[in-house]
Amino acid sequence: MTSDRDKWNRKYREAQFPTAASGIVQAFYHHAPVGRALDLACGNGRNACFLAARGFEVDAVDISEEGLRRFVCRSPAINRICQDMDAFRIHPLRYQLIVNTRFLMRRLFPFIQEGLAPGGVLLFETYLQDKEDRPGRKFGRHHLLKDGELRHAFPALQTIAYGEGASRHKDAPTRKAFLVAVRPSTP
Ligand SMILES: C[S@@+](CC[C@H](N)C(=O)[O-])C[C@H]1O[C@@H](n2cnc3c(N)ncnc32)[C@H](O)[C@@H]1O
Repeated sequence: MTSDRDKWNRKYREAQFPTAASGIVQAFYHHAPVGRALDLACGNGRNACFLAARGFEVDAVDISEEGLRRFVCRSPAINRICQDMDAFRIHPLRYQLIVNTRFLMRRLFPFIQEGLAPGGVLLFETYLQDKEDRPGRKFGRHHLLKDGELRHAFPALQTIAYGEGASRHKDAPTRKAFLVAVRPSTP
């Protein structure tokens, strides 16, 4: 059976991935105090590089060494970590900013929440399940959010912005959801 690492290594060898930072990162990163950032499943580092250029020290984690090899920058402010997110420990209270784009591992939700320092910000965006089951669907349902799910996934955080809408990524599901939320400074 092909592992997730093998699957993603092959994709990074064969396909082109976007190099500009996600819209949500560009639009909302400034809500976070400049400091330590964590980019979960960072891929080619498009978001990590954007943040490093704006003064963040970034831990960028991905299972695929091919993705990490294709990083879109070489910044000394980025700590590239090749690891399965299932084994990566998110240290409590460590980050001013956590970014999760186009990736879903529900088990991480409580650790993401705890990983934010007070005043720290979460930028989360990924795909939603299609309303109808389509034949030939490439994405398993466990990789896709249900409608409304993301809005309630981080109960200790205060929402700054939330939305569900069309996705324009090639070869990807047609809808996505995003959440921008902050860990309150006083509990
Ligand atoms: C669609 S790409 C998104 C990459 C990046 N977040 C972005 O928005 O450009 C999904 C990423 O998740 C990574 N990935 C998949 N399973 C993983 C796991 N278990 N642990 C860490 N990374 C994983 C893949 O290697 C791939 O880089």
